[in-house]
Amino acid sequence: AVTRTPLIAGNWKMNLDHLQAIAFVQKLAWSLQDAKHDFDAVEVAVFPPFTDLRSVQTLVSADKLPLGYGAQDVSSQDSGAFTGEISGAFLSQLDCRYVIIGHSERRTLHNESDDVVRAKTAAALKHGITPVICVGETAEDLEKHGSSAVPVAQLRAAVEGVSADADIVVAYEPVWAIGSGQAATPEQAEQVAAALRSVLSESLGEDAAARTRILYGGSVKSGNIAGFMREPNVDGALVGGASLDVTEFSNISRYQK
Ligand code: G3P
Repeated sequence: AVTRTPLIAGNWKMNLDHLQAIAFVQKLAWSLQDAKHDFDAVEVAVFPPFTDLRSVQTLVSADKLPLGYGAQDVSSQDSGAFTGEISGAFLSQLDCRYVIIGHSERRTLHNESDDVVRAKTAAALKHGITPVICVGETAEDLEKHGSSAVPVAQLRAAVEGVSADADIVVAYEPVWAIGSGQAATPEQAEQVAAALRSVLSESLGEDAAARTRILYGGSVKSGNIAGFMREPNVDGALVGGASLDVTEFSNISRYQK
């Protein structure tokens, strides 16, 4: 059977400037190294704002830190007259391993449609960056359609045209659980994660489905991470608020099943 390396990812959103990022990443690396964290067993990655990435790259490469990092968004375009946009080429030059795509805040606040999410997914892959494709239902969706229908449709749309051997990560983030302190239950997360794995299987094939990591996000903290990680289809977490505290994020990364 394929083993999927769990991924604990911290989405900083619009928090921590580049100076704070340097201090944070150093402290996080020390905390994990002090605790003898096995980075091969559980991968840890941070997602700072664009303006921090060059500093994070410098620090990670100079100190050979075993941390992954990525951006919170990417343009669907390569270059040109797109004021304010950041291309995948730029991110790949900064050695970003990942990029978050279609976070619910971008879908809602910036009207990102499934088409935009698909185009950005393709752009990330084109530049050798692993997209972390976010899907999830609102409270209203949940009431009307149950938990799986919307995330399933969003993922199907996002991976259309993606090749079977592409490296992608999926993050299931129920919108009602984001920043609300009201996390889904591990059972709820597992149910949707299993449905998402079926989408991967139908769209990309068995191998891709077996290999691809599916994360849960929405009010994850050190006190509830273990429950999610016990579920067979949940391969990690995308953490927002709790990723901004070094000790808390380090504790989440070092969860004990
Ligand atoms: O991308 C992570 C995020 O949306 C979850 O946020 O603050 O509920 O952990 P939070």
